[in-house]
Amino acid sequence: MGAVTRVFVSADMASVALGADEAADALARAGAEVTRTGSRGLFAVEPLVEVETEAGRIGYGPVTATDAARVLAGDHPKRLGPVEALPFFARQRRLTFARCGVTDPLSLADYAAHGGWLGLEVARALGPSEVVDRIEASGLRGRGGAAFPAGRKWRATLDTPSGEKFIVCNADEGDSGTFADRMLMEGDPFLLIEGMAIAGHAVGAAYGYVYIRSEYPLAINTLRRAIALSADLIAPFAIEVRVGAGAYVCGEETSLLDSIEGKRGQVRAKPPLPAHAGLFGAPTVINNVLTLAAAPFILAQGPEAYAAMGYGRSRGTMPVQLAGNVKNGGLFETPFGITLGELVNDIGGGTQSGRPVRAVQVGGPLGAYFPPSKFDLPFDYEAFAAEDGLIGHGGVVVFDDTVDMGRMARFAMEFCANESCGKCTPCRIGSVRGVETIDRLIAGGRRPADPVEALAQMRNAAGGAHGRASELALLRDLCETMRDGSLCALGGFTPYPVLSALKYFPEDFGLTAEMAELA
Ligand SMILES: Cc1cc2nc3c(=O)[nH]c(=O)nc-3n(C[C@H](O)[C@H](O)[C@H](O)COP(=O)(O)O)c2cc1C
Ligand code: SF4
Repeated sequence: MGAVTRVFVSADMASVALGADEAADALARAGAEVTRTGSRGLFAVEPLVEVETEAGRIGYGPVTATDAARVLAGDHPKRLGPVEALPFFARQRRLTFARCGVTDPLSLADYAAHGGWLGLEVARALGPSEVVDRIEASGLRGRGGAAFPAGRKWRATLDTPSGEKFIVCNADEGDSGTFADRMLMEGDPFLLIEGMAIAGHAVGAAYGYVYIRSEYPLAINTLRRAIALSADLIAPFAIEVRVGAGAYVCGEETSLLDSIEGKRGQVRAKPPLPAHAGLFGAPTVINNVLTLAAAPFILAQGPEAYAAMGYGRSRGTMPVQLAGNVKNGGLFETPFGITLGELVNDIGGGTQSGRPVRAVQVGGPLGAYFPPSKFDLPFDYEAFAAEDGLIGHGGVVVFDDTVDMGRMARFAMEFCANESCGKCTPCRIGSVRGVETIDRLIAGGRRPADPVEALAQMRNAAGGAHGRASELALLRDLCETMRDGSLCALGGFTPYPVLSALKYFPEDFGLTAEMAELA
């Protein structure tokens, strides 16, 4: 009898949705030894089956149950070749996702064999302040959206005297087109646990919470099992999972704290900052999954190794998530600085529909829409901010030329109206008025045959209460009020998608560029 072939099949929720369980079962029935891993993150080839050979892991995909025997025989036309040589993977620099898709997520032995726990070991040999020094020196900024320096947050928590402190991991992952947190918790949960234990040691916290949205049942289950398996290794630090009910605003850090405390999630006014008075009034570090998961690399390899990658003040790597109408949807971890065009066209392969790309929304539902003329923008927090955009949690959602950007602007306001926590007026009332104003603007908008004539008509109509010019002026005024007067970024950033749609795609509102600028 010949040696049993070892194969690796992702158990990630996206792979399972594409048939990975059926493929894995068929391979097992055909005599293979199957190891379930996380996903490598290229969904176009999922279910991806990796066959262990002397020449490394050979990929096949997308594999169905009926392909099993020929995959094991090594002669299937779906053979992709050595997995790590595929351009989608070869172009990446994987720090946070180095193990995802490679190891068994719940094998402590696998985790340790691939460099796991080294960061925590280094941290424990250092004093808390030295750990924070290293996080500061790495230049790590929060990956949840605000890009706040992680080291500064940890320092403020360390420096606040208290008998009780907490580490809270924000795994609410509410941004549209994002799934990196989920992939990491399903594919390499010990990394997050290690990152939280390092944070606990650094600031003097003995307890941590992970707040995960209820729509992530596999991540919840995997993380809970991983916490139980590693409890002795991270003791005296301990972690508990809390499940959120799916309100977008509960991803905002202070609403999240309220939600963990058992209250309705509502944004708290700052100060006090969570670092001074957070969960149950105690000093609290609250960080995104990807921020905490970067800490083990920084401690194990040194802050210089992390800071050596990146662009401007955006240091390290970003796990970019390509979604929407894109050919190669998935997770692509890269140092900052890659351009938007490279991501969408070279890595993403353009649209899935094969039609021209018309718009890209970066940074979730509060991010700006950019046309291809902005594709030379480097992936960098400051470069995006200079264009009234944001990187947020790294979600890139692609649209082809059939998209109606007037409707997308309306959707942004409607989303804000639906998800507003109701605490402040510009967001609670403004978003509802915003939907109505966009409706009136679009209803009055016809594509003008002669732009000069249409402009004159618009000027003439400007005095009328419902003239298009007055609707436009009202919309801009409303956006300004929301931006400047909202308590949090839900109301404050909703103007970004609305105004960028208006700026780059005025024709979808029945306007010419001159008319859009005039108002
Ligand atoms: C409306 C709203 C929703 C948010 N949702 C998330 C989320 O789902 N996940 C996340 O990590 N941060 C989210 N944030 C950002 C958090 O408030 C906070 O900045 C983050 O958890 C801090 O962690 P970081 O410094 O590691 O990014 C949201 C912010 C706002 C205003
Ligand atoms: S901006 Fe909206 S979500 Fe944020 S505090 Fe105000 S009402 Fe609540």
